[in-house]
Amino acid sequence: MIISRFVILRRGMSTASTCATRRSWWDHVTPALKDPISAVTEAFLADPSPYKINLGVGAYRDDEGKPLVLQCVREAESKIAASSFLESTSTSVGSKLVMESAKLIYGEDSDVIKERRFAGIPALSGTGACRLFAEFQKRFYPESRMYLPDPTWSNHRNIWRDVHVPDQTFRYYHPDSKSLNFAALMDDVKNAPDGSFFLLHPCAHNPTGVDPTEEQWREISSLFKVKNHFPFFDVAYQGFASGDVERDAKAIRIFLEDGHSIGCAQSFAKNMGLYGHRVGCLSVLCNDKIQAMAIQSQLQQISNTMYGSPPIHGISLVSKILSDPDIKAIWLKEVKVMATRIRRMRVTLREALERLGSPLNWQHITNQVGMFCFSGLNRAEVYLLAKEFHIYMTPDGRISMGGVTTKNVDYLANAIHEVTACDQDAKILHNTDAYKINTDIRFTSLGTSKTRARGMNLAL
Ligand SMILES: Cc1ncc(COP(=O)(O)O)c(C=O)c1O
Repeated sequence: MIISRFVILRRGMSTASTCATRRSWWDHVTPALKDPISAVTEAFLADPSPYKINLGVGAYRDDEGKPLVLQCVREAESKIAASSFLESTSTSVGSKLVMESAKLIYGEDSDVIKERRFAGIPALSGTGACRLFAEFQKRFYPESRMYLPDPTWSNHRNIWRDVHVPDQTFRYYHPDSKSLNFAALMDDVKNAPDGSFFLLHPCAHNPTGVDPTEEQWREISSLFKVKNHFPFFDVAYQGFASGDVERDAKAIRIFLEDGHSIGCAQSFAKNMGLYGHRVGCLSVLCNDKIQAMAIQSQLQQISNTMYGSPPIHGISLVSKILSDPDIKAIWLKEVKVMATRIRRMRVTLREALERLGSPLNWQHITNQVGMFCFSGLNRAEVYLLAKEFHIYMTPDGRISMGGVTTKNVDYLANAIHEVTACDQDAKILHNTDAYKINTDIRFTSLGTSKTRARGMNLAL
């Protein structure tokens, strides 16, 4: 009794003295740096203007600027309900998703599919698939690094950093020509140590909208062969570059023909409009079935400690869309419609800028493909678009073309023309807040954005 009282007393004292020296367990935690895309969304939401446009987030919108539930998704939803999908185990639905995703990217008739020479697991969308691969890479190649294109999707660096795989960039984009810097890319591939890991966007590169041509992919693949590099493909926009999912898989098919071992992260967030459902797939090609089983079990173990198994609903939807020929036909048409609308907006935006008499060359708007237009606007211009015109995009000048519509394209063109034509002496303060800027701008012909919008008869 006496001893236990003593113990209680000691415990009480030690708690009191700890509290005196430490106010809370988390005093040392400071806010994380904001993700650039979330920062844009926050700024957009905080803007009360009725004229505001969000061109930050890479999500497709219809020509009314509204999020779209695809018809194929509605059809799949009704069939899933009819077959009481709730009774399925997550394992069987997951295996079906993996098989259908692999067919979509490697080709239904490919030997890889026939011989089942791949390991794959469902992932939490494209982000989750990249993260799983990064964990797998770290587990089996702990000293390796990941080569990322410069520029690339902003989260790539964070994903590999968080699993302690260092990243390195390889040159990709030429800002002056606003096109692929192919010679530099090849140089960097050549100069990387043999057997390096490279992340490649097979179509609709984010953020530049610049893809290698088929011939250039062939050259890249040959050089990868010589150097024994590992190609990891991040496929977040299959169908958005050309409107045809088969055509957008061409780069991967070229690497397949050349006999590479390949890793592939697939996302169905954009091409099926299933952003919130987080459906994706990670697959890794193997030499044979035995190796596939070993890799499969490792991927499974990695995902088990991260999230167990993924939510079943989105997986069931995607599996249904890909495996039911009638629903798949609807989906393929809808992908084409989305890609075509974006392509049309590119043409309209460029023509509008030219009509306004912009002295700048806007050819790259229509040369680039996919969801994004890497406009070439600088940080000062991006800042002005937000401040003066309520148009929001990432500070690197990336325009999400999914947010451009028939109704807002003239307003956007006019705003771009105004900020690029104005006499400006802008200095960006290097700050994590993209919108902190020290600038001295003298516009040539600005009214308020409201009068300009009215003048253009905008229905906002
Ligand atoms: C190149 C690339 N990879 C992966 C992702 C992640 O996509 P998800 O929303 O499917 O996680 C994105 C999203 O913007 C992307 O652009």
